[in-house]
Amino acid sequence: MGQATCLNCSRCDKSFPPDRLLNLCECGAPLLVDYDLQDIRKHWKKSDLDRAPNSMWRYSPVLPADAERAITLQEGWTPLLRAARLGREIGAQQLWVKDEGRNPTHSFKARGLSCAVTMAYLLGAKKLATPSAGNAGSALAAYAAAAGLEAHIFMPNDVPQANFVECKSFGANVTLVDGLISDCGRIVAERKDREGWFDVSTLKEPYRIEGKKTMGYEVAEQFGWEFPDAIFYPCGGGVGLIGMWKAFGELEELGWVSGKRPKMISVQAQGCEPITRAFERNSETSEFFPDARTVASGLRVPKALGDFLVLRAVRESGGTAISVSDEEMLDAGLWMLRSEGIFPAPEGGACVAAAKRLIQSGFLRPEDRIVIYNTASGLKYLEAYSTRFPRHAASEQNKLGGLITPR
Ligand SMILES: Cc1ncc(COP(=O)(O)O)c(C=O)c1O
Ligand SMILES: [Zn+2]
Repeated sequence: MGQATCLNCSRCDKSFPPDRLLNLCECGAPLLVDYDLQDIRKHWKKSDLDRAPNSMWRYSPVLPADAERAITLQEGWTPLLRAARLGREIGAQQLWVKDEGRNPTHSFKARGLSCAVTMAYLLGAKKLATPSAGNAGSALAAYAAAAGLEAHIFMPNDVPQANFVECKSFGANVTLVDGLISDCGRIVAERKDREGWFDVSTLKEPYRIEGKKTMGYEVAEQFGWEFPDAIFYPCGGGVGLIGMWKAFGELEELGWVSGKRPKMISVQAQGCEPITRAFERNSETSEFFPDARTVASGLRVPKALGDFLVLRAVRESGGTAISVSDEEMLDAGLWMLRSEGIFPAPEGGACVAAAKRLIQSGFLRPEDRIVIYNTASGLKYLEAYSTRFPRHAASEQNKLGGLITPR
């Protein structure tokens, strides 16, 4: 029950069987996983979830593998926290934070990589490779370790220290690249055939979306099978946004949720805002954003392969795309820390700043039910937050609390 029936191209009309390792369609577009939802709805009931695992694999009938076969570290089923004090600060009466910092490796990337590594493992891959802005690398390193597979990770050389140390410590092969994730992606594409790597890059691999779509199932379930009015999502490659939009369509087809779907709000950094610009230009695709820079390393994606899918979902939903500065996202991150006790990634802070702006502008109403996705823990971004709390020490070792030389 619930296995994928086929993989459909997101651009042309080709479709492929799900029984082999696949990347993109022949036309170069991402593949989307399809299920026989009319059949699934006959056997799968909401009440089955009472006995389901407390992880994203609770939705295994609409995932490509059974929960028993998954490579899992108990990812997903993260808390949806009411943020009343933060809401008052930004003028929102019903504000909620979906705290993805609670995931294994402390980011929502765990969902996509649990699913992708599971399928790669089941379909016989031995060596996995990916370019990463940081957190996807950490998640791949962890799940590859759990599956006993090799991981080859290419990251910008100014990636947050937490991501670098995690990847190395999980035993991955890490290459730091003098460039951005786009340069890292080029290296993986050039070398993968020669090296025998299966490429699990964002959207070049069909199952990461399936893992991330569970954020959409969860938010609906946590609201008692209702949709919120608006979702703020920090958009890099856009996988989570595309995935949640897919989930909302599936939930409707299953007959589990009706009513208006949420407005999808793509949030980017002013230093890397290809989707915002494309949205404002009314364009179907984005253009490569030159000289991308932002402390929100997950948003440093100058051109997303699935840009047209993100833009389509944002427009169909009646949402919008906006950008905030690095200063605004760190300020807003600190509001969340101080008013809610949640330590968000700058990407989560960006969503708070964006929500404040859209309530002030009247795009959203103060009484709307608003969900902010905090996609990672702020503990993975100590360099960024440290700019607010400089601490002078003679050397880095002097910050180690006596681990090396007790004093
Ligand atoms: C913390 C964080 N937020 C958001 C993103 C963007 O994710 P997506 O590719 O789903 O747009 C990333 C990607 O690296 C990330 O690490
Ligand atoms: Zn195609």
